[in-house]
Amino acid sequence: MDKKIIVAPSVLSADFSEIKGALADIKASGAPWVHLDVMDGSFVPNITFGSKFIADIRKHSDLFFDAHLMVREPQNHIEDFAKAGCQAITVHSEACVHLDRTLNQIKTLGCKAGVSIVPSTPVSMIEGILEIVDIVLIMTVNPGFGGQSLIPYTLEKVKRLVEIRGNRDFLISVDGGISDRTIVEASNAGIDIAVAGSAFFASKDKADFVSRISRGYGKK
Ligand code: DX5
Ligand code: ZN
Repeated sequence: MDKKIIVAPSVLSADFSEIKGALADIKASGAPWVHLDVMDGSFVPNITFGSKFIADIRKHSDLFFDAHLMVREPQNHIEDFAKAGCQAITVHSEACVHLDRTLNQIKTLGCKAGVSIVPSTPVSMIEGILEIVDIVLIMTVNPGFGGQSLIPYTLEKVKRLVEIRGNRDFLISVDGGISDRTIVEASNAGIDIAVAGSAFFASKDKADFVSRISRGYGKK
């Protein structure tokens, strides 16, 4: 199969004081996307950065900015993230009462609209809105931190989404614990996008890492 997986390195695992270098490393690796983990310390236990940080780093990268909002009430911030230069904005179904409205808000601002579910949330929770999403982000760890191990049952949700996708054209992304060891199973499950934080930044040869992950190959 020739399908290439989009590799989206997460800057969460970068040294924020060296962020320009991290963006240059991502560019040089051949990865087309940059994954931006926004955490509010309430929906998830950790706090990272907001739209100003993204607007500032936007000047130093021409890659596709994929924002993952792990925040409560994301509808209050979506315009700021769109203006900051995010090209995809993903919100959590668990954080949105009016998910349909929030996803349409993202699309109206000209961004790809993504929905994410944590490991304990079943696919059935988002089946009704699959018509209007561009990306479904399956969390393969409990969100909040990088460097955790992939929870195997979450890949069953990827398989379920592939089964029910039909003619719809949303992309399926996985986030958390993606590495040389886990990519094969994730790829076999049918993913389109792989987010990788710690494994990317720990790689000595990042171009080789991206090339292998994009083809769904583990390390020889
Ligand atoms: C976790 C974040 C992830 C994180 C992945 O809450 O959403 O994007 O950066 O990190 P790794 O690849 O280290 O599991
Ligand atoms: Zn993420």
